[in-house]
Amino acid sequence: MFDPFLGSGTTAYECETLKRNFIGVEIQNELVEKVQNNLDKTDKIAKVFCGDSTKKETFEEINMFLKDKKQNKVQLAILHPPYADIVKFSNLENDLSNKKSLKEFLESFSLVLHNTKWIMKEDGYLVSVFFLKKNQKKFV
Ligand SMILES: C[S@@+](CC[C@H](N)C(=O)[O-])C[C@H]1O[C@@H](n2cnc3c(N)ncnc32)[C@H](O)[C@@H]1O
Repeated sequence: MFDPFLGSGTTAYECETLKRNFIGVEIQNELVEKVQNNLDKTDKIAKVFCGDSTKKETFEEINMFLKDKKQNKVQLAILHPPYADIVKFSNLENDLSNKKSLKEFLESFSLVLHNTKWIMKEDGYLVSVFFLKKNQKKFV
């Protein structure tokens, strides 16, 4: 399972419970360290990368890690992105919650989707949380 917006690690802990391999990415280093320390006891792959999920380099690193572990591509991706600018997650410029407009947010989110697809199996599944702002009739 792969999660490019790890946060405090719900998907990682559920994978541990379900005995699934897990790879996550999170832009905030403090969260990465906390989750990785809590996952160290599992006998499955449980790897958390500190990085920017909009960047190809982050995914090149993941791809190398998968090859090193003799793993094929990812079967399932679960994405829980920021809700545009409704909740600020950090002060980091590339944090999607700091994008200046819905257009910029969606452009960055598209990059994350594109990068995620690159490490996924053709017949894999991608699930995402979406949001609609109040009075917004459809997703742009
Ligand atoms: C809605 S939260 C995810 C919550 C998560 N499901 C949990 O269990 O806590 C979104 C997360 O995405 C992270 N994030 C925002 N922009 C990012 C980026 N460009 N690359 C990686 N992570 C990012 C934020 O720091 C935040 O922790």
